[in-house]
Amino acid sequence: MAGTLQSRVVVVTGAGAGIGAAAAQTMAREGARVVVSDIDAAAAEDTAHRIAQAGGEAVAMGVDVSRPEQIDALLELALRHYGRLDGAFNNAGIPGPGVPLAQHDEAHFDALLAVNLKAVWYGMKRQIEIMLPGGGGAIVNTASVGGLVGKPGLSVYCATKHAVLGLTKTAALEYGSRGIRVNAVCPGVVRTRMVDMVIAAQPETESTWGTLQPIGRFGTPEEIGEAVAWLMSPRASLVHGHALVADGGLTAA
Ligand SMILES: NC(=O)c1ccc[n+]([C@@H]2O[C@H](COP(=O)([O-])OP(=O)(O)OC[C@H]3O[C@@H](n4cnc5c(N)ncnc54)[C@H](O)[C@@H]3O)[C@@H](O)[C@H]2O)c1
Repeated sequence: MAGTLQSRVVVVTGAGAGIGAAAAQTMAREGARVVVSDIDAAAAEDTAHRIAQAGGEAVAMGVDVSRPEQIDALLELALRHYGRLDGAFNNAGIPGPGVPLAQHDEAHFDALLAVNLKAVWYGMKRQIEIMLPGGGGAIVNTASVGGLVGKPGLSVYCATKHAVLGLTKTAALEYGSRGIRVNAVCPGVVRTRMVDMVIAAQPETESTWGTLQPIGRFGTPEEIGEAVAWLMSPRASLVHGHALVADGGLTAA
């Protein structure tokens, strides 16, 4: 497909649902050849199927990003199937239990760190190793407004997302001169399964969260997908080391 990402090979994690699925489909519409992955292999297949049905190109794989060897396998698939790697959207993430800091237990802490932070670091490390000899590329990481400010009930989640911005900015400084552009997207409140999980743990949030954003509604995964596709594309060539906030004005106050 012709578009701003024509023929670029882009891997996406957590692409079986929500923001990852929407971004994969938007990037495919812009011409990217997408390597779709998710811990839920059937969901990843489903996203790839929808891309193919819309005339795009994708291949799918079940990948648990908390397992480094599975990230290796994902990048190997991109190289084996398409022969190159031009972009990566490190997006898979989990919200945590939705309890105040003192009620967080160590198992939740470790799981959040493994999926939301270590996997982003390991993914970037391997992607950069591949992109450097390949002539460069673009990396987009999913942070959150919780990477910019604190959110009650989400202490460890927020800590991981602040850390994702630290990785993003530092990698931008280290690799920008060598052709790798690195940015993050910071979604506000997007109605996906992740938000549904938080609402299930804290039912009172349903009525308040919907109107939390000054635009008066939840964001959609497609709106975040548009921001990601732009950051990934050469149209954002001067945008580097940036945390792009897409939150309906939530953090403007
Ligand atoms: N929804 C929001 O309001 C919001 C706001 C800010 C940031 N985010 C971030 O956006 C990203 C995507 O979240 P979403 O809202 O689309 O949630 P979602 O639950 O709809 O989608 C997340 C996807 O990640 C997959 N996943 C979970 N653990 C995984 C693992 N270990 N390995 C691989 N895949 C895994 C899930 O199967 C799912 O398909 C996350 O990083 C999240 O922190 C979401």
